Amino acid sequence: MKFANRTAVVTGAAVGIGRAVAHKLAMEGANVVILDYNPETLEKTRVELEAYTQNVLALVCDVSDEAAVNEMFARAKARFGKIDILINNAGIWRCWAPFMETSVEDWKRYLDINVMGTVYCTRAVLPDMLEAGYGRIVNVASVAGVYGNAKMVHYSATKGALISMTRALAKEVSDKGVLVNCVSPGSVSSSEHDDPNYTSPSELSFMGRTGSTMENANLICFLAGDEAAYIAGQNIQIDGCRKKQ
Ligand SMILES: NC(=O)c1ccc[n+]([C@@H]2O[C@H](COP(=O)([O-])OP(=O)(O)OC[C@H]3O[C@@H](n4cnc5c(N)ncnc54)[C@H](O)[C@@H]3O)[C@@H](O)[C@H]2O)c1
Repeated sequence: MKFANRTAVVTGAAVGIGRAVAHKLAMEGANVVILDYNPETLEKTRVELEAYTQNVLALVCDVSDEAAVNEMFARAKARFGKIDILINNAGIWRCWAPFMETSVEDWKRYLDINVMGTVYCTRAVLPDMLEAGYGRIVNVASVAGVYGNAKMVHYSATKGALISMTRALAKEVSDKGVLVNCVSPGSVSSSEHDDPNYTSPSELSFMGRTGSTMENANLICFLAGDEAAYIAGQNIQIDGCRKKQ
């Protein structure tokens, strides 16, 4: 089992990409901590994961609440002893409005969840990872953070921040065994579909389709594993050969 004796925390794990990542990690032997602010969908995913392992901990938490994040990561550590892998996937993105119609409150909310949520979760695991000399952190950004999407200016800015945060932090910690990378999905099949292999037609990629949540999970879990031992500070796009917007 690829992730035997590893403990992974996946944020935003109740649906979509995070749920597919949690499934794959559990299938491959990890202890899995699933964290999300939606208790109903989180519970549904927790029950699904019990098909693979009893070593699942579901934590209801808003990643933009630093105190709650610290409390939840302490609970995860108390249950499993250590955290080896952090997947910073929680994010909000369903917003389409011109720049001047995006309020300052919208900006702050996007920054609080997409950027500061990642900062809080990373701060909660990094000291122990450095002490252990081992860690894998995968941040989930977006092609919007690379190219910039019109009518998604605040979202694009938060994802660009994650990509540069990844590059900068990796330079601080990769010599100590903690590898930080970023994944930037293009168009992903909607999380309303329960089937993690579902795809649908899309004109935004030369492949002519969206990516499935499991295709994204495959890349994220590769970077979270030992086979990716010489990769750090990278942003890898998974976008079916994107037609740049
Ligand atoms: N779906 C896409 O097309 C796409 C494309 C590029 C990047 N992404 C990124 O991938 C990640 C996952 O996307 P998805 O499509 O699976 O999203 P989704 O909206 O389907 O699921 C996100 C999950 O995160 C949770 N979440 C949101 N804010 C949270 C918070 N503050 N605290 C805790 N949990 C929170 C939600 O409850 C939900 O379960 C996001 O970071 C998103 O920006 C998605």
